[in-house]
Amino acid sequence: MREGGRALREGAVLVFPSVTSTNDIARDTMLHDHLSWVAILAEEQTAGRGRRGRNWISQPGNGLFFSYAHAIQGVVIPDAWPLLVALCVRDTLAELVHSELTVKWPNDILAEGKKVCGILTEARQLADRAVMITGIGVNVRLDLERTPEDVKNRATSFETLGETVDRNRLASALIHALTLLKRDVAAGLRFGDRVDAYRASCETLGKHVRAVHGNTVLEGVAEAIDEHGTLFMRDRTGNRHALFSGEIVETAP
Ligand code: BTN
Repeated sequence: MREGGRALREGAVLVFPSVTSTNDIARDTMLHDHLSWVAILAEEQTAGRGRRGRNWISQPGNGLFFSYAHAIQGVVIPDAWPLLVALCVRDTLAELVHSELTVKWPNDILAEGKKVCGILTEARQLADRAVMITGIGVNVRLDLERTPEDVKNRATSFETLGETVDRNRLASALIHALTLLKRDVAAGLRFGDRVDAYRASCETLGKHVRAVHGNTVLEGVAEAIDEHGTLFMRDRTGNRHALFSGEIVETAP
């Protein structure tokens, strides 16, 4: 890969005992090293970030705290990278565990209706190039005594599900899968090409949902997901709403 006339080094995998957030280390590494991609892993995060400004609890050794950053060629920022990643991560995890895994729009991975993996994607302009940072947190185990009640109600771990997950194998499978995905996107893959697979894995469709969209909370039935990843929901008065981003906070059958 060449960028600005200078050859990019291929990827690197860096493992740390403790970091603030693997997303931040991935960003800094991409800023200072001329890499095509980097994968950052940490045993613990002291300031792990979730979506919508939340913390991501990152107890030492209990999870996979992983970020994958890659340079984006030109101005091509795929319309629905977070959703493509969700499907990719779900499929990768599904090869390593027995539990049935679903995607909650846009990009949570659930097992038995509870979150087992969260994804935080951040596009950043770094000096002369654009970079996509994909942060993935997998709950391998949860220290229930140190986990707040509200998190316990919404989240689960592979250990709770009776699954043993080898974090090294999982990390290596994710690096492989994301490297292929970024290659395919650079070669023209769009979310529309994977939308049927996404819909088949998505537990949100057909459910009554409460969704946060910007500063608004919307309630209704999740009716459809289009080829750009937009979720359409119909409220009680029959109005249809398009959610381009945001998140489902509650689902009921
Ligand atoms: C969410 O569901 O709210 C997204 C959670 C993302 C957590 C991961 S852990 C590795 C990476 N580093 C972070 O600070 N966040 C992501």
